[in-house]
Amino acid sequence: MPGREIRLRAGEQLDAVLRNDLPEPTTLHWHGVALRNDADGVPGVTQAAVAPGASHRYRFTAPHPGTYWFHPHVGTQQDRGLYGALVVEDPHEPLAYDEEWTVVLDDWLDGVTGTPDEVLRELRRGMDMSHPGRYMLMGATSLLLGGDAGDVRYPLFLLNGRTADAPDALRAKPGTRVRLRIVNAGGDTAFRVALGGHRLRVTHADGFPVEPVDTDALLLGMGERYDVLVTLADGVFPLVALAEGKGGAALGIVRTGAGRAPSASTRPAELERKVLGYRQLAATPAVRLARRRPDRTVTLRLAGSMSTYEWTIDGRRYDPAYRIPVEGGERVRLRFVNETSMWHPMHLHGHSFALGGAGGPRKDTAIVLPNETVVAEFDADNPGLWMIHCHNVYHAESGMMTVLGYRA
Ligand code: C2O
Ligand code: CU
Repeated sequence: MPGREIRLRAGEQLDAVLRNDLPEPTTLHWHGVALRNDADGVPGVTQAAVAPGASHRYRFTAPHPGTYWFHPHVGTQQDRGLYGALVVEDPHEPLAYDEEWTVVLDDWLDGVTGTPDEVLRELRRGMDMSHPGRYMLMGATSLLLGGDAGDVRYPLFLLNGRTADAPDALRAKPGTRVRLRIVNAGGDTAFRVALGGHRLRVTHADGFPVEPVDTDALLLGMGERYDVLVTLADGVFPLVALAEGKGGAALGIVRTGAGRAPSASTRPAELERKVLGYRQLAATPAVRLARRRPDRTVTLRLAGSMSTYEWTIDGRRYDPAYRIPVEGGERVRLRFVNETSMWHPMHLHGHSFALGGAGGPRKDTAIVLPNETVVAEFDADNPGLWMIHCHNVYHAESGMMTVLGYRA
């Protein structure tokens, strides 16, 4: 792990066979891709789950270049390392760089302290101050996340499948211009990412180009991706992904020259400098959503609590038969109203919305802070049944998912 990266060019068709060697049903979801609905991989909505021993063929065209990823859409499977990066190359790539490195981040406990299913069971028993559980994390806070940082205690954080005491080495010559494709594949952890001794030029958010902006650090909620360009200095540099508010970190070593590798606990100063905020991001003209009066506003109230561990959207736990009504061709304005004291990385399938409204960065996943309202607009131009859900695996499995559907 991560699984083998899949690469194709925009406009090409991916033809992939999932063979289920797991002892339980599964599917694959191609996160962020505006694909044909029947390849979206949501059990009971776009396909039947693939039984143990059975296979399923996914065929779809990837219309937009960018950094995506794939993972199962069943239970807590995604928190067991079942994921990989999906890179859709641009046949007319406008950026100039010498190399590209994919950096996949994850939080890990499976087989170390327990299993994701045990975590879910414990969380669902609800919060009991007198019996602090084995997995439930209490008191982890983050200013960037507006309070409570997460629900789950992970013993390890991984960068490309490796722990901080046996880190991945990324090698190049000094002066190399590298494109980093950074993916947060975690279950319950936001990562704050920085490369010691360097600034990062952000070029893409969730696969789509943004007006380039320089930053010291990035914050990625689960499901989010950023592409950055960096010109490497001479030496050895830590690429650190701090588990935001939780304390640990994932690490990679960027090596362009001689020098001792930094220790597992190294924390470059860049982590404490400027962290990119959504307000600094704007779509490039080529992918900017045209200004248009929304035909419909869909308000999604996010509710729930740690004490009951039931998470709802508009007072409803996930019901695969329920549909948020939308009509094909409409400009839809989504309003995520967070009434909880937790942050939620909200994800829309099959579309890239304009965060904040037309002109905003095109994204498919956005962090909604506690007691905050986030607005996003999209055009209903890809008919089918599409999930909207929190990309915290444990919130999603405890109800925070819904379905939006429309015909052409
Ligand atoms: Cu990566 Cu339904 O999500
Ligand atoms: Cu959530």
